[in-house]
Amino acid sequence: MNVEALLTAQLGRTLSATDFPALGQKYQGKVRDTYRQGDRLVLITTDRLSAFDHVLTTLPFKGDLLNQLAHFWFAKTAHVVKNHVLDMPDPCVIVGRAAKPFAIEFVVRGYLTGSLWRDYEAGRDPYALKLPAGLKNSQRFETPILTPSTKAPIGQHDEPLSEAQVVERGLLGARDWQRAKEAALALFREGQAWAATRGLILVDTKYEFGTIGDELVVIDEMHTPDSSRFWDAGEYPGRFARGEAQKMLDKENLRQWLITKRGFQGQGTPPAIPDEVRVSLAKTYVAAFEQICGRSFSMVSEDATARLTRNLKAAKLI
Ligand SMILES: Nc1ncnc2c1ncn2[C@@H]1O[C@H](COP(=O)(O)OP(=O)(O)OP(=O)(O)O)[C@@H](O)[C@H]1O
Ligand SMILES: [Mg+2]
Repeated sequence: MNVEALLTAQLGRTLSATDFPALGQKYQGKVRDTYRQGDRLVLITTDRLSAFDHVLTTLPFKGDLLNQLAHFWFAKTAHVVKNHVLDMPDPCVIVGRAAKPFAIEFVVRGYLTGSLWRDYEAGRDPYALKLPAGLKNSQRFETPILTPSTKAPIGQHDEPLSEAQVVERGLLGARDWQRAKEAALALFREGQAWAATRGLILVDTKYEFGTIGDELVVIDEMHTPDSSRFWDAGEYPGRFARGEAQKMLDKENLRQWLITKRGFQGQGTPPAIPDEVRVSLAKTYVAAFEQICGRSFSMVSEDATARLTRNLKAAKLI
């Protein structure tokens, strides 16, 4: 079967919820179900898809894909910044060390696009960046910039912050801010360098950090098409020169569909997502995975809960 047929066949078997009380205390995020027992976390990446802070639908094999891709990047960048990963007992599960999470999302941007472009075009400067006038859509920054935001509770929207506000509001101490900022920029450099060898541009991304004891660790996920933008590097110069949209291998495809086809930007009731949009986005995610990792993405159709139960048992987690 080709990729599209495999994805379509899986539409009715996606993983939208989990229930493993034996794993510990459950916290349900938008995408991950996190079970905590002491200082150990079991993070199950479900197939849930969120955009503009709403869970909208599921995508076939998204949990497996995101989790394995995050694991790939954590391994690749462990020499730059320590991370929470201990083990991957199932394609959609990471066992990690529980950290004290910082209340800030560290967004690093290499290019002027997305919400930052929309702000810039409208004359808004919520991050107090004081960008020069005359920049173009999708223009590369001389050096990547940081646009932090609050980590809003479920159902609320993250709020942009200037660098000064992070410390002034007491969201983070000056030392933690400084070292997490340096870590974010270093991880981003590493990610961009790898992406470049694979014909991709890592455009921007979001990191979460926390501490274990006094050690700074990167947690949650890393450099996935949920948390990052990826563009086709070969297409970039021509499209930029012509003022065209970039070839995107990430969730921005869905955001653009929501904005242009449904007039949805996070306010009000989210629209239903048709199956062909689900398959098309899943295809984009598979393409991103395969291009980044340089290997094919395995899609085996099986009841997700049965597989999880088997693998969690084998790892003696339940
Ligand atoms: N090692 C870790 N230690 C502590 N918390 C972690 C760790 N790794 C991830 N988390 C937290 O677990 C949750 C993962 O869930 P998910 O990614 O679905 O959340 P989200 O939708 O990004 O955010 P929210 O929690 O606001 O729903 C996040 O709140 C994340 O901060
Ligand atoms: Mg998250």
